[in-house]
Amino acid sequence: MKKVGIIGGSGYTGGELIRLVLHHPALALDFVYSTTRPGTPLHHTHADLLGAEAPNFTSDINPEVDVVFLCVGHGKSVTFLDQNQFSEKTILIDLSNDFRLSADAQYQKYNFVYGLPENQKEEIENANAIANPGCFATAIQLALLPLAKNGKITAPIHVNATTGSTGAGVGLSSTGHFSWRNNNFSWYKPFTHQHLGEIEETLGNPKLYFLPQRGNFTRGIFASCYTPFDGSLKDAEAMYKDFYNSHPFTHVSDKELTLKQVVNTNHCALHLHQYEDQLLVTSVIDNLLKGASGQAIQNLNLMMGWEEDLGLQLKASVF
Ligand SMILES: NC(=O)c1ccc[n+]([C@@H]2O[C@H](COP(=O)([O-])OP(=O)(O)OC[C@H]3O[C@@H](n4cnc5c(N)ncnc54)[C@H](OP(=O)(O)O)[C@@H]3O)[C@@H](O)[C@H]2O)c1
Repeated sequence: MKKVGIIGGSGYTGGELIRLVLHHPALALDFVYSTTRPGTPLHHTHADLLGAEAPNFTSDINPEVDVVFLCVGHGKSVTFLDQNQFSEKTILIDLSNDFRLSADAQYQKYNFVYGLPENQKEEIENANAIANPGCFATAIQLALLPLAKNGKITAPIHVNATTGSTGAGVGLSSTGHFSWRNNNFSWYKPFTHQHLGEIEETLGNPKLYFLPQRGNFTRGIFASCYTPFDGSLKDAEAMYKDFYNSHPFTHVSDKELTLKQVVNTNHCALHLHQYEDQLLVTSVIDNLLKGASGQAIQNLNLMMGWEEDLGLQLKASVF
């Protein structure tokens, strides 16, 4: 069994990682670090863990663990690593955007590899540190990777993508408050969202007009991407199915998508539609699983040489 430490365990992605680690057949939860609640049981924060066998939150790290997941806000992973050292053997998987861009990938003794398995599985298998992709970035890159890798992006791409409220983390903000979010809808950061950099690096700098939106649901991302495509719908579908053929979590659906078919799973579902010269690619994921903690475990499985879907055979919550 490989020993796991989680930093930022009271947050949303930290909570998801605790659940995944407790159910993973090859992982043992060694410690869950918290700045605000050391000494308290995990279920005082994550009520669904009542009855689970797990250590209390702690303010101490074990530098000898096999794997550490950093589940803290942007900029805080760097600060944490400046103040805490792990052993030579310890693998790091960071969920923030501190190390995602190639200019930030080298830090201390670590060379962070961008952890999108559908794009670079072999590099992930040989890595000792992973920069886990952003949630919007995952949904959008999976929608566009086959086009980019086949040289089929020839014009600007338009993307509308809507996220659930957990995408903003556990901290309460005016736009995360129930009274504001419930029965409401809005866009934010039009064309300037912070995930654009990592998307552009993977896809080779296409012109991307990305409008992020806040939905009034808790989990999931529904992304609609469209761009001119020179070919038939059949050509596009064949290209996408061939590209994702060997990837266990990304699937092309012949039917139109709904968000709940992937919520509570590590899957990404894609659907293609053609109108005049435009190819519309719809992509749905669970922001906390394929968009964060599930993909982090998928990356760890690859690094360990385990089955890619070990501990990730989750059931959707479709009703
Ligand atoms: N939410 C998503 O859908 C999602 C998806 C992909 C990536 N991400 C990224 O993943 C990271 C975590 O996201 P999240 O949604 O889990 O955030 P979150 O719910 O706000 O949780 C972050 C946790 O970090 C801990 N923390 C705060 N300041 C800290 C510090 N100075 N040092 C150490 N720990 C500190 C806090 O836990 P304690 O009080 O217990 O210390 C806090 O609960 C972020 O960088 C986010 O952008 C999030």
